[in-house]
Amino acid sequence: MLPIVMPLDIHDRSRRVHANVLEALGDTPLIRLTKVTRGIRTPVYGKADYLSPGGSVKDRIGLPIVEKAEEAGLLKPGGTIVEATAGNTGTSLAMAAAIKGYRCVFVMPDKMSLEKQRLLKAFGARLVITPTAVPPDHPDYYLNTAKRIADETPNAIFANQFYNRANPDAHYRWTGPEIWEQTRGKITHFVTGMGTGGTISGVGRFLKEKNDRVRIVGADPVGSILEQYLETGEVGEGKTYMVEGIGMDKIPGTLDIEYVDEIRQVTDRLSFQMARRLTREEGLFVGGSTGTIVTVAVEIAREIDDADACVVAMLCDLGERYLSKLHSDEWMRENRMLEEEEVEVRYLLERKTRDDAPPLIMIEADATVREALSLMEKYNVSQIPVMEGDQQRGSLSEGALLNRVLAEPEALDSPLAGYLEDPFPSVEEDASMKVVVGHFTSGESALLVRRGGRYVGILTKFDILHYLTNGGQRR
Ligand SMILES: Cc1ncc(COP(=O)(O)O)c(C=O)c1O
Repeated sequence: MLPIVMPLDIHDRSRRVHANVLEALGDTPLIRLTKVTRGIRTPVYGKADYLSPGGSVKDRIGLPIVEKAEEAGLLKPGGTIVEATAGNTGTSLAMAAAIKGYRCVFVMPDKMSLEKQRLLKAFGARLVITPTAVPPDHPDYYLNTAKRIADETPNAIFANQFYNRANPDAHYRWTGPEIWEQTRGKITHFVTGMGTGGTISGVGRFLKEKNDRVRIVGADPVGSILEQYLETGEVGEGKTYMVEGIGMDKIPGTLDIEYVDEIRQVTDRLSFQMARRLTREEGLFVGGSTGTIVTVAVEIAREIDDADACVVAMLCDLGERYLSKLHSDEWMRENRMLEEEEVEVRYLLERKTRDDAPPLIMIEADATVREALSLMEKYNVSQIPVMEGDQQRGSLSEGALLNRVLAEPEALDSPLAGYLEDPFPSVEEDASMKVVVGHFTSGESALLVRRGGRYVGILTKFDILHYLTNGGQRR
């Protein structure tokens, strides 16, 4: 395990005074993961670039891109920086522009979070939103729109992070050496996501030069084309996914795939669940792409099972940018991304409430079979509990009751007592979906829901099925 370095030892940057925020970039900490790696011998560290002043790994590339354009005489005083961005590179460029007095125009696909859109506007940038679901050769594709705006704007540059070599070079000169030094050269595996590929290409090239046995692993969303590209060299058809900032639907000039040993895909659901776990169990408030990356890092750490190995995963950006998305229970529920444990019964009840019926359709034990059948017909339900006061005496199912009545029609005016089936089991309203599914997979047909000792609702298999197939939509 790496020795814990106390701040007063080396690199005590927090005590240095900087002329401006750009001098405070870089030198982000390496933080050991302990909870999400419970039971795994291999040490896993997070490279915490989300703690950078602009809140992401992209802080490393904004200034170098601007300085390169200045050196080339392309960007002159009072000029405009135009870029296509998922948000983080925009923030990085906006910080450099603020210090150097440039204007910014950012083009962003509409799938990106509201927080990111507001963040760029907070830096005074002009924001252009384009449709996400258009192919890379479409005029509205965000890269093409940005290029067009840069061409049409006098004294403007197109930062072009997807083809600008200043991007991977920044990680080769900066991020790579930091990780090598912080791990004292003991790193065995580096895991990161690939948006432009700048991070994995720059860090990968540096680490491979230091030790060509270091494994460079890409973590990628399901729907991105990179895993297939690495394995076959073919550029397939990308599919949309929700994780932001990583994954590709075309191969950019900043991805040096020769430095990547392996790419593993992760679903949005697992990425978001891991990002939430990192926040709640490790105290690392991160975004979805970090969830993708750490999911792969933990998988690899479990596989190699070696206390002398050293896995480093990039912690790419701040969770604050996703408060209305992955860090919102409501959003996660609506997108069926929550772990079953986290979906509570009360939520399932809320979703099925009808304006034309009471929350719990039930009948008193002293009613007749006819009254029960017409109640079920009135509300179009096939099973109801039979109550005596607030106690459940038994249950009725339409099918069984109809069979009895067809066999003995005179039963219609009989009291229910002789026709009862077993009472439905019940759960508290804060029980989880997992508990509910357990009941139904063990053969129950319905569950009563309790709040404060009283029955307040009923859940049937159909309600669960509806949730699993229609997510947050109400019945
Ligand atoms: C949140 C997030 N994670 C990871 C990355 C990947 O970085 P790179 O573009 O260096 O591949 C990005 C890139 O935009 C990002 O926004």
